[in-house]
Amino acid sequence: MSRRRMWLGAVFSLLPALCLGAAVSGDRDVFYYGLLPDTFSWGVSTAAYQIEGAWNEDGKSEHIWDRFCHEGGHVDLNATGDVACDSYHKWRDDVTILNEVGVNHYRMSLSWSRLVPNPLTGVVNKAAVAHYLQVLAALKQAGIKPLVTLFHWDLPQILEDHGSWGNDSIVDMFEHYADVAFGSFGHLVPYWITFNEPWVITWQGYGKGDYAPGVQEPATLPYLYAHNIIKCHASAWHLYDRKYRARFHGKVSITLNTDFFAPRDPDDPQHVQASERAAQFSLGWFANPIYVNGDYPQVMKEYVQRHSPQGHSRLPEFTSREQLWIKGTFDFFGLNHYSTSLCEPADAQYQATVPLGYLGDMEVKLSRDPTWHQAASYYLFYVPWGMRGILNYIRTHYQNVPVMVTENGVTDNNGTLRDSHRVEYLRSYIDELIKAVRLDGCNVIGYTVWSIVDNFEWARGYTERFGIYYVDFNDPERRRVPKDSSRFYKRVIADRGFPDPGIVG
Ligand code: BGC
Repeated sequence: MSRRRMWLGAVFSLLPALCLGAAVSGDRDVFYYGLLPDTFSWGVSTAAYQIEGAWNEDGKSEHIWDRFCHEGGHVDLNATGDVACDSYHKWRDDVTILNEVGVNHYRMSLSWSRLVPNPLTGVVNKAAVAHYLQVLAALKQAGIKPLVTLFHWDLPQILEDHGSWGNDSIVDMFEHYADVAFGSFGHLVPYWITFNEPWVITWQGYGKGDYAPGVQEPATLPYLYAHNIIKCHASAWHLYDRKYRARFHGKVSITLNTDFFAPRDPDDPQHVQASERAAQFSLGWFANPIYVNGDYPQVMKEYVQRHSPQGHSRLPEFTSREQLWIKGTFDFFGLNHYSTSLCEPADAQYQATVPLGYLGDMEVKLSRDPTWHQAASYYLFYVPWGMRGILNYIRTHYQNVPVMVTENGVTDNNGTLRDSHRVEYLRSYIDELIKAVRLDGCNVIGYTVWSIVDNFEWARGYTERFGIYYVDFNDPERRRVPKDSSRFYKRVIADRGFPDPGIVG
């Protein structure tokens, strides 16, 4: 969507906002005072490997991130998640700080290799079930709704060695794991997420190879593995629908990550087309099958075919039966959003710099505006209006499905407690989310900060920090210390947004 269309959209939707009595500004960079309804859910997020530690305790088996870290040479300073925030033992401290902030929900993930250490035999680890039951029961007691992700990147090593996502039997094994999770915890979990960021799993794990297990096959494996991940997702959703929905009334979906893709020159139709292509290759790759028609986006099929010289596209095909089975396997839209990219058609010079495969297939040159402020992470630029842009993209492309923002946040390198940069990032991104809801009519049901605590930031180890609580990784107690951003977020939650100072006084 061009910036101009966004602006026009805002102008045309002033009316409902005015009716709700908000102080209105349709302008992109002007701060907007407005509140979200009481039903809107505010939360924070973590993932098992990034916080739990206890990597080989109580029967847990090795997973691909254990292997990747222990091999050495892949992660900054050769850090590991062996201990991380030690949340496996210190989960009570996590519940305490969740209470302190006053969140409505907590997004966490389960460890497959804890619950079903050997997916080939399928034997369930009772100690792991008991552990997660304790955590979930404590959340219930605190009045915090859990949003539970089944798979946040920690594939049991046994499965990686068994043909990884390319072995079709993984679909049954994932369904079995989902069955264990739904059956054991379904009475305590209102929201389930099957996969966190299949784009990262497939592209960074098996294409670019900077994430575990570090495989670099950009031409084939991301497409092949994504195909089975989508089937795993669909089969878990159908399982819940068939076997658990009537009993537990929960909701099941997937979390997709995406930048907002904006045309570098909004007045150039080629740039506008390139940004739509980038969005379809990144978000549409997974969203189109699940939220639209059971199949990959048409533009993706065309462009991958065009770059598959043997005549046989590297993008696999779903049968029409599979398409019917995949389409509609959602109850909401999980969105992770951090940053924005500018798009224009790739010229020959740019194409020569990207490896044959996913990036080259897209034929889009991605860039950042040099005036954008960059965070500590290479991909993370402060572009708050991108939040409003991507929410509107989802509204228009996926029938205004209810969106739960499952991650948003920002890094620094030092973990300072006086994190005014994080306050500024959260303040401006949340404000754009409020604009999207109040001015544009986007159907957003919740927002989740990544992360409640500083934690293991994948290939960056502990050199990049996202927490609204500080953790000293040399402190054996791993004390959680509030940063300014945690107090800021507590206030936003209590206020349910940004009350107009003119009204509140
Ligand atoms: C992931 C998180 C990660 C965060 C910040 C997301 O891609 O889901 O696990 O820590 O981004 O990089």
